[in-house]
Amino acid sequence: MPDSAALGPDASLVVDLGDRSYPIYIGANLLDNTALLVRHIPGDRAVIVSNTTVAPLYAQALQRQLSAFKQVKLVVLPDGERYKSLETLSQIFDALVADQCDRQTTLIALGGGVIGDITGFAAACYQRGVPFIQIPTTLLSQVDSSVGGKTGVNHPQAKNMIGAFYQPRCVIADIHTLNTLPDRELSAGLAEVIKYGLLWDVDFLDWIEENMAKLRRRDADALHHAITRSCAIKADIVHQDEREGGLRALLNLGHTFGHAIEAGMGYGVWLHGEAVGAGMCMAADLSHRLEWINAADLARVYRIVAAAGLPTQSPAELDIDTLRALMDSDKKVQSGRLRLVLLHGLGSALVTDKAAESQLQDTLRATHALPA
Ligand code: NAD
Ligand code: GLY
Repeated sequence: MPDSAALGPDASLVVDLGDRSYPIYIGANLLDNTALLVRHIPGDRAVIVSNTTVAPLYAQALQRQLSAFKQVKLVVLPDGERYKSLETLSQIFDALVADQCDRQTTLIALGGGVIGDITGFAAACYQRGVPFIQIPTTLLSQVDSSVGGKTGVNHPQAKNMIGAFYQPRCVIADIHTLNTLPDRELSAGLAEVIKYGLLWDVDFLDWIEENMAKLRRRDADALHHAITRSCAIKADIVHQDEREGGLRALLNLGHTFGHAIEAGMGYGVWLHGEAVGAGMCMAADLSHRLEWINAADLARVYRIVAAAGLPTQSPAELDIDTLRALMDSDKKVQSGRLRLVLLHGLGSALVTDKAAESQLQDTLRATHALPA
């Protein structure tokens, strides 16, 4: 077990990965707690990586606060999923090299999942690895992407195809930052919250369903519980299977469909969480065809996803053959065989290649939105 007192006595949770264990802090106004951040920066230098939307809201203030203790540089990237690319990654390296940043320089990702994934990958690669810290500012990144060490960028035809497993030194999730998040982005984050309930914890799914209205109006206590429970489930799964030998793949429920929607529509047209929302309904539809969930449970999945303000069908603009072809770029494909995460009852999931192509085609047709 990690020494949680040494890691962070006031941590909400700890991701237990032996000598790479790290604390997750969840609370309001944590960004003002400069001492907390300073405690996790080993050297004299830090580089905050943010984007054009988040930097004016939070990064400039953070840079000012931190400058009393460390030498701090700010790198501001363009905003958007389409910039989660090798070209943008190079911009981080250019800034680090220009500033002669050394191996003790800590990279701080301040933003949503795009900033977290790309900054983590930069940290994994720069001088073969420098310390990094996740400060997630979207619901999606607070419940999912900042925890577990998956970092990387997109290939034009395939989501997250280039990357590395590289764990942060700590995760600081300041719930207060969610107050500036657009409603559409909040809903996108709820997709990943629902995902944990569906694949792991039916009691949590019940709680999500009961508290959906509170979550959507940003009730602080409800958000705190949703983030804490989501991170606890993710930390448990990552502890058991850091490098996705098996169990961790369950966290990709709805993602094979969702990633194909994102790539097919053009990155950023559908938000990641929106694509996952529709993808979970598609996975539920296929699970029902395999008789692994009943009709009432299938209807319930649709209801919960819709209540979160998320789409339940794939986009009419993306034809089914293209969608199906894009699914073959998924990282879970093995020896040319598509493997999907499907439900086996609510609160339980499995990775399977048992669905016949004809059943998958039926699902793709049944869950495709009609043109307006
Ligand atoms: P995002 O990073 O694009 O952020 C969404 C939008 O919200 C952006 O425009 C951003 O600038 C803005 N924003 C961020 N914080 C804000 C705030 N507090 N106030 C106002 N605006 C704010 O998207 P996301 O949904 O956070 O993350 C999606 C990405 O995460 C995808 O690339 C996905 O592949 C990745 N992801 C990674 C993992 C992982 O395990 N590494 C898991 C899930 C998703
Ligand atoms: N979001 C999937 C994972 O971290 O494994």
